[in-house]
Amino acid sequence: MTIVSSPDRNWLAEIHPTVREAQPSGIVEVFDYGRGRQGLIPLWVGEGDLPPPASVSEAVKASLDRGETFYTAQAGIPPLREAIAAYMTRVYGVAPGGGAFNPESFFVTIGGMHAIEIATRLTLGPGDEALIPSPAWPNFVGAIETSGARAVPVPLGRVGRWSLDPNRLADAVTPATKVIFLNSPANPTGFIATREEIAATLALARERGLWIVADEIYGRLTYDGARAPSFHDVMALDDKILFVQTLSKNWAMTGFRVGWLEAPPALGPVIENLVQFTTSGVPVFTQRAAIAALNDGESFLSSQIERFRRSRDILCDGLAATGRVRFCEPEAAFYLFFQVDGFPDSRALALRLIDEAGVGAAPGSAFGPGGEGHLRICFARDPTQIEEATRRILRWLKK
Ligand SMILES: Cc1ncc(COP(=O)(O)O)c(C=O)c1O
Repeated sequence: MTIVSSPDRNWLAEIHPTVREAQPSGIVEVFDYGRGRQGLIPLWVGEGDLPPPASVSEAVKASLDRGETFYTAQAGIPPLREAIAAYMTRVYGVAPGGGAFNPESFFVTIGGMHAIEIATRLTLGPGDEALIPSPAWPNFVGAIETSGARAVPVPLGRVGRWSLDPNRLADAVTPATKVIFLNSPANPTGFIATREEIAATLALARERGLWIVADEIYGRLTYDGARAPSFHDVMALDDKILFVQTLSKNWAMTGFRVGWLEAPPALGPVIENLVQFTTSGVPVFTQRAAIAALNDGESFLSSQIERFRRSRDILCDGLAATGRVRFCEPEAAFYLFFQVDGFPDSRALALRLIDEAGVGAAPGSAFGPGGEGHLRICFARDPTQIEEATRRILRWLKK
């Protein structure tokens, strides 16, 4: 006999309110609406259409052939922690406090999202508050609110470019504030915080005793040839900063689920506990893939950036020519966040674009205050496909 639960049982009433009341991602709603539509060009999620470099997949196969299928070190395998430290030294120069980066500062996670989850657990609990410059990627709010803390959006400025006003951040600090989440370069706006904006945020954090969670995962996906300014450029050894990183975007490895948290080595035992109690570690074969990407992935990364730049220019030039679309040109990452005159309801607009133009975009309302009235398009795809998507939007706008 199959035992089924009563249809009248209110299961939602039985679970903890902090998770019951977490808002679903507005991106997922639109994605579910349009998923599987014939001929639709899907530009709603933050990933491209290329596989990772061949050496990455080969590293996975070789690892499996060696039988690396067992539980492993909670902090990550030592060769990956060493490869991350060497990569960071190459890209960021000196470590906080001087010298090369220390492998003990890096904790391997299941993608950037797991690093965000651990950073949240380290810094926030019920009743605490976290400041988030907004519009922002909704998963920050999700991680914060499912921990029982409160996400406090702080609007980004927008005069010619998106910008971060440290005075607005300072005004939002209360006795309950414990952390500032700063994602730069940012999803969804493509905004890059300047070195001055980063330094001012750090000064505020120091003055008020706050942590900073610095999500710098798009730091190398910039269009001016240099990496983006980083908290690494301005911090001292004892600053309370946790860095979120991932292999997902630079090396087209979203499905590998591997990233890292950078934190003071003294927190190692606590972070290892949190890894143990959440995922119990990252598969060794994906860690081998990460080593291959970090050691041999520079030419792949450069070719991705060139491809993204072409797609960005096609999309921006096409939309700008209509005179009906407004945006700040993205300086980094691979998203265009734009407004269409006369369409204030972004959810309705995203649904219409699916039905009437065959293009899947994310609604700006999903990105919190300041996001409504916008759409986000991920242009990390083949330029010919972005050209076709642009054509479809233009045709639709002319109707
Ligand atoms: C700003 C930001 N941080 C973190 C992540 C998570 O990356 P991952 O896929 O490695 O979990 C994303 C993914 O879109 C992101 O946009």
